[in-house]
Amino acid sequence: MTIQVREHSFDGIQEFDNRLPNWWLWTLYLACIFSVVYWVYFHTIGIGDLPGEAYAVEQRAAAARLEAQLAANPVNDEMLLKLSKEPAFVADGEKIFKDPARCALCHKPDGSGLIGPNLTDDLWIYGGKPMDIYTTILKGRPRGMLAHESFGQGFVQRATAYVLHIKNTNLPGKPPEPDAKKEQ
Ligand code: HEC
Repeated sequence: MTIQVREHSFDGIQEFDNRLPNWWLWTLYLACIFSVVYWVYFHTIGIGDLPGEAYAVEQRAAAARLEAQLAANPVNDEMLLKLSKEPAFVADGEKIFKDPARCALCHKPDGSGLIGPNLTDDLWIYGGKPMDIYTTILKGRPRGMLAHESFGQGFVQRATAYVLHIKNTNLPGKPPEPDAKKEQ
């Protein structure tokens, strides 16, 4: 192999004109091929999910699994009471409750009542037992309490857990309804 020195010279420095090694060239060729395949797969035809979409798909699958799990377990006083003592579950319920477009709209963010009754006292129109509260939130009540069935089990159980959590904290608020009865 004859070593060729290129003609140009910068400040007296000259370069060889060596052939690039094959392994180096192949990394270049393979990167080119990969980029074309990647572009066609993810963008032109769009078979593959981009990372953002792949993440959303996984999240939806996880949410569906949780929903199925919750739906498979029978809802009863005992399990709702247990959920109301799980800090993460209650924190989710708090977010639902304090959403200005949801419960907070009618019960105030602190639950002390506005259009809907004060939920922090020990007086209940439809009962203050876990299943009573759960049924109220799930099915709604005639004088303006909305049904939340369409939001799913996860939503209703979290909201119930939060109401159980603030129950009997006795914040001053809306005066009790005439037909509300005392209950622990
Ligand atoms: C559009 C207004 C409105 C929204 C939104 C609303 N409520 Fe109510 N809620 C009411 C009204 C009004 C009542 C009283 C219904 C009645 O007397 O028939 C009530 C009753 C209740 C009761 C029963 C209280 C009792 O004394 O028995 C519970 C529990 C309750 N709401 C929880 C919730 C939760 C949790 C949410 C959010 C998921 C929510 N509410 C969203 C208006 C609302």
